[in-house]
Amino acid sequence: MNLMEMDRDAFDQFRTLVYAKSGITLGDGKEALVSARVGKRMRQLGMGDFQSYLDWVKGAGGEDEMVQLLDAISTNVTSFYREPVHFEVVDGAIRRWWEQGQRRFRIWCAASSTGEEPYTLAMTLRECLGGEGDVRLLATDISTRVLKAAKAGEYAESKLESLPPGFAGRFFTRGRKGDGIFHTAKDELKSMILYKRINLAFPPFPMQGPMDIIMCRNVMIYFDNAVRQRLISEFRRLLKPGGYLIVGHAESLTGLAEGFKSVRPAVYVKEA
Ligand SMILES: C[S@@+](CC[C@H](N)C(=O)[O-])C[C@H]1O[C@@H](n2cnc3c(N)ncnc32)[C@H](O)[C@@H]1O
Repeated sequence: MNLMEMDRDAFDQFRTLVYAKSGITLGDGKEALVSARVGKRMRQLGMGDFQSYLDWVKGAGGEDEMVQLLDAISTNVTSFYREPVHFEVVDGAIRRWWEQGQRRFRIWCAASSTGEEPYTLAMTLRECLGGEGDVRLLATDISTRVLKAAKAGEYAESKLESLPPGFAGRFFTRGRKGDGIFHTAKDELKSMILYKRINLAFPPFPMQGPMDIIMCRNVMIYFDNAVRQRLISEFRRLLKPGGYLIVGHAESLTGLAEGFKSVRPAVYVKEA
């Protein structure tokens, strides 16, 4: 076995391992992707043989490298104001609850990747509450690499193009790094967000709830129905009655969302 060709047996070992540790299903046809991503990681380590790498990760003392392997395998594509209608839903719900006298808001961004999604939530909340209220945003991911990037909150100029006019200057500080311009999230956003590593494949999670909104977008597509079902039951436990579960537009919860009412595409409300 060498880096040029991952054979079927190695691929099967990787996908069994990745599923067991993260719930991510690597279907047939993902050999090239796995080979490229794992190969890159192995080059960093100076390793040239898939089986030796597998033996190491699976063996005693391989736990830390397992985290690195999952970092390498996971797809982290995200952007500010992705699927923007969801942030209108959040804005509408928060305003309604505020009018009803609610002052404490707890929101969980599950699978937050490099931070664009939790920062978009933070900007949405700043906009509708003007800094008032007791607001906490929990942002979690399985990947330590993306959590580190999210905490740093530094983004290339091109990343900020999807922000509404005026938001870049209002919520980010412009700076220069080498030849490039980058923007760093201001403390007024950063201070709203707590980052934690949470593996969504293994509920129950250490939070108590009740939460007002859980946003879990574009990660359940990588899970099979058994993992999705466990996760959605845990979301139901953590949400308050009337709380929102927002998933990605490509993710249908048909047959899985018992106890939730679908209120618009990809938006579910926990029934009383
Ligand atoms: C495609 S990104 C989606 C980011 C963001 N939610 C969005 O919609 O723009 C998927 C994220 O899910 C994370 N992820 C994959 N498996 C996970 C698991 N078992 N537990 C927690 N996060 C996971 C990946 O690390 C990645 O950051």
